[in-house]
Amino acid sequence: MVARVSTVAFQGIEGVPVDVQVMVAPGKVGIQIVGLPDKAVAESRERVQAALHASGLALPAKRVTVNLAPADLPKEGSHFDLAIALGLMAALGAVPADALSGYVVIGELNLDGTIAAVAGALPAAIGANALGKGLICPAESGPEAAWAGSETDILAPRSLIAVANHFRGTQVLSRPEPAVRAAAEGLPDLADIKGQESAKRALEVAAAGNHNLLMVGPPGSGKSMLAARLPSILPPLSPAELLEVSMIHSIAGQLPGGKLSDRRPFRAPHHSATMAALIGGGFRAKPGEASLAHNGVLFLDELPEFAPQALDALRQPLETATCIARANHRVTYPAAIQLIAAMNPCRCGMAGEPGRSCARGPRCMADYQARISGPLMDRIDIRVDVPAVSAADLIRPGTSEPSAAVARRVARARELQRDRFAGLGRPELTSNARSSTTMIEKIAEPDAAGLQLLRDAAEKMKFSARGYHRVLKVARTLADLDAAPTVGRIHLAEAISYRVAGERLPAAA
Ligand SMILES: Nc1ncnc2c1ncn2[C@@H]1O[C@H](COP(=O)(O)OP(=O)(O)OP(=O)(O)O)[C@@H](O)[C@H]1O
Ligand SMILES: [Mg+2]
Repeated sequence: MVARVSTVAFQGIEGVPVDVQVMVAPGKVGIQIVGLPDKAVAESRERVQAALHASGLALPAKRVTVNLAPADLPKEGSHFDLAIALGLMAALGAVPADALSGYVVIGELNLDGTIAAVAGALPAAIGANALGKGLICPAESGPEAAWAGSETDILAPRSLIAVANHFRGTQVLSRPEPAVRAAAEGLPDLADIKGQESAKRALEVAAAGNHNLLMVGPPGSGKSMLAARLPSILPPLSPAELLEVSMIHSIAGQLPGGKLSDRRPFRAPHHSATMAALIGGGFRAKPGEASLAHNGVLFLDELPEFAPQALDALRQPLETATCIARANHRVTYPAAIQLIAAMNPCRCGMAGEPGRSCARGPRCMADYQARISGPLMDRIDIRVDVPAVSAADLIRPGTSEPSAAVARRVARARELQRDRFAGLGRPELTSNARSSTTMIEKIAEPDAAGLQLLRDAAEKMKFSARGYHRVLKVARTLADLDAAPTVGRIHLAEAISYRVAGERLPAAA
């Protein structure tokens, strides 16, 4: 007899249905797993055998064949253990086979028969729900899986024995409750930053329209400080965005305790990060930092210190909002990111500072900045200089505007954008930075004076086509911050100034 149990293989953030077929038949004693298993799946044989033994279930002296169908789909990870063990238990009559047919099963086994947490419980639960089935997952993954919806039947047992007892009716498992992370408290506040008014304004504009931002300035001027305060002014995730973000974090095994939060992701990888760490991939397909920052912020501090190849790999996600990671096979992960970057103008950090001179002269600056490619620079909408804070600003008593006040203006501007896109029949767009070129030409059509300014600037500064559209997007955001229905000359002037800012950046625009 063949026992069947449903499970999933993860491709990107989707769970592809996999059928575990277990047959016990006379023949050479042992367990054989077929169907493109990777090393972790192949090792499953040992874990399953030990766990069943520990649970008091003796394997018959027969041949056990486990087939993971479809056979041509690569199977990665250790989450197939539980499905294989339950399939085997069903084949041996330890659990009723028909009871398992209503569930998708994921989980890793410990040698003592307990079930260990696995990544991907949320997408597995959503996939199971779509198939009209419930989910059996490890106890620790239960709170995460419970987010798939109250109508999904979820069993989160601690051990193989608990599953058997549940189906025998001796010890019924209760449904796990979804867990919420405590509200974001103690986020660093913009009020801590003295001076730097133009950089703060740029940060607000970037937050309001979801624009990419580069801050350039000498050491200790507050660039890293400013970036760390962006989360405190960004609007919370919408429920749909929250689900997408959580699916990615679930696949990456980064949802501690299954707790979800509506705070936007803020990822700040170190500059030694490799290409695989940034965009995903490597030996086993895993989402990279750019995907973990989906619907949130990817902060690259000390931008020129990153490997040029790793930086250039970001060009694609910045344009298409998806990462294509290459591991044993190709996988696509969502990566709608807002790129925030900070850098010194040169290696010693002092180029262009009044009263200071760079030890190595202009070459120092040129060499340092040449590490950032033109195409990557072209994708940055807002570039600001963050000069050293003046002594007068540092000494001045009192604090600056708190984050809460800025967050309110940002939220209002985002609301205008959402309403506008909904009115145009594109409710999935939530910010100006995400609108298409045809749409931005329509919604950011400048008045006559603005058009004249834009024409002159585009000609003189030789904007790329992308640069032209990005200026329009920033101008639309500036108008939204003013609650102005049309984009005026003043908005375009500010948007253009952000594009050409930083004479320290000869590579720019
Ligand atoms: N504008 C400011 N207001 C108040 N404190 C500041 C300001 N700028 C810098 N500081 C102080 O200097 C420290 C360093 O700031 P920060 O790390 O943001 O500098 P940075 O511009 O990122 O420098 P680097 O280029 O070396 O990375 C902060 O922890 C803070 O104490
Ligand atoms: Mg810094």
